[in-house]
Amino acid sequence: MKIFLDTADISEIRKVAKWGVLDGVTTNPTLFAKTSGSSYEEVLKEICTITSGPVSAEVVAEDVEGMLREGRAFAKLAPNIVVKVPMSEEGLEAIATFADEGIKTNCTLIFTANQGLLAAKAGASLLSPFVGRLDDINQDGMIVIRELVDIVTIHDLETEVLAASIRNPLHMTQAALAGAHVATLPFKVLQQMAHHPLTDSGIKQFRTDWEKARVALDTQKGSDKAKAAAAPTKPGA
Ligand code: G3P
Repeated sequence: MKIFLDTADISEIRKVAKWGVLDGVTTNPTLFAKTSGSSYEEVLKEICTITSGPVSAEVVAEDVEGMLREGRAFAKLAPNIVVKVPMSEEGLEAIATFADEGIKTNCTLIFTANQGLLAAKAGASLLSPFVGRLDDINQDGMIVIRELVDIVTIHDLETEVLAASIRNPLHMTQAALAGAHVATLPFKVLQQMAHHPLTDSGIKQFRTDWEKARVALDTQKGSDKAKAAAAPTKPGA
């Protein structure tokens, strides 16, 4: 299973790349809005120097021509750019055109298996169902992941299910068990995945015991030395 980082924050991406678990990055206008100082294009280019995996760049136009114009410009930034297109009638048309042009797409804002099926048929290389936002409205977001993975597998569709809007480590485990090909996670969730209270307290305990053992050994060595120095020397020795 591939792990993407859902962020436009360069320092987070650099950090996770060093952990050896980074397969790609997804960005969107909301995530870009949290950064400052550089244009979206500059941020995307920098991300593409950190990872050679797919980097999703989202269009904001809602009409086909606008999506095509923005997407084609993104695709020129780096070979690993994937154009993120929202699920809509216009989005489907743009995805089909991008597919004809050899430009990879990630269809975003998917909330039903049927939307995912259409996006796959249109030629999207990634399908992004949003788990957390469905949970927010009291629907089980993981159902869509399971259904889409089944549909893609049964019909041998050339696309991948990317579990998005992942909000906690349990979402991640469930998406992995459902067979999602990819999950994109905020940095915070990746950090949560790396930790467990018993792991953290265990590390502390080992360190404390190690220090205790070292002090005990030093004390023992010290008293052995003192005893040896105080012992009477044997005659003829
Ligand atoms: O990948 C999509 C993601 O950024 C949306 O997450 O938490 O805003 O629903 P969220």
